[in-house]
Amino acid sequence: MQQDFGRRPPGPRSVLLAEVAQATQRLADAGVPSPRTDAEELAAFVHGVKRGELHSVKDADFDARYWEVIARREQREPLQHITGRAYFRYLELQVGPGVFVPRPETESVVGWAIDAVRAMDVVEPCIVDLCTGSGAIALALAQEVPRSRVHAVELSEEALTWTRKNVEGSRVDLRQGDALTAFRDLDGQVDLVISNPPYIPLTEWEYVAPEARDYDPELALFSGEDGLDLIRGLERTAHRLLRPGGVVVVEHADTQGGQVPWIFTEERGWADAADHPDLNNRPRFATARKALP
Ligand SMILES: C[S@@+](CC[C@H](N)C(=O)[O-])C[C@H]1O[C@@H](n2cnc3c(N)ncnc32)[C@H](O)[C@@H]1O
Repeated sequence: MQQDFGRRPPGPRSVLLAEVAQATQRLADAGVPSPRTDAEELAAFVHGVKRGELHSVKDADFDARYWEVIARREQREPLQHITGRAYFRYLELQVGPGVFVPRPETESVVGWAIDAVRAMDVVEPCIVDLCTGSGAIALALAQEVPRSRVHAVELSEEALTWTRKNVEGSRVDLRQGDALTAFRDLDGQVDLVISNPPYIPLTEWEYVAPEARDYDPELALFSGEDGLDLIRGLERTAHRLLRPGGVVVVEHADTQGGQVPWIFTEERGWADAADHPDLNNRPRFATARKALP
């Protein structure tokens, strides 16, 4: 006889888990990409427990505010704006209106950067994060690369209100300014420059998910017709900041894998320009090494 291992064991179902199932359906109908996860995260948030502890919420403690937050998510308000927190590698960051919500694909960009810095065998590596937003990249590097000296710059004052909260107590040197002119005091001394800059082509505005288009700041998303305006400028900044042999890592859109490595050419003083996929095997970030003299 065939056994059905996937079947739920008989027994009563908690009120909360029934409501989560209903909320999942509503979020799916609204086009939310991960309805089950979001329905559970919001249930955990409202009831002050972890996602894995939802079964422990007693029926009598079900909080009707759950339906208020589900209604907000149905309108495609980002999950992280509703909960006020975003997870990035080993960090929990504070986020909300005015700051870009860090994305999972950036985690693999940081992973590559960590490996690159470790391979350098420098005692106190100097790292610069251009366009830091919430501070996600800079803070992850400070946490995961022992004895690193991490510097970060952000242009938007609105974003910086969040960044300042996140970097408090860390050793990240946070500055306000334009990435293109930042850190003159570090010229030629940096081991690794990393950036997740705005890169969406203006021509793709209508295809951007509502969570990003309506809630992430415009300054965080777009950069000229083909999306590469800022990356072209960052190429010069990275070259100015890096020591010979230092490495640059730049995230880009999955449609730009054929273009970004070509910005880091030998004629402009670069070697080993390459492109790399993210965990979904989509082209995601370019790297290059500042050529030795
Ligand atoms: C795509 S978001 C990335 C934020 C963060 N690095 C992350 O991965 O979550 C790009 C960030 O660049 C900032 N930005 C845009 N132009 C800038 C510039 N010229 N100088 C510094 N920051 C800039 C935006 O305000 C935004 O915070």
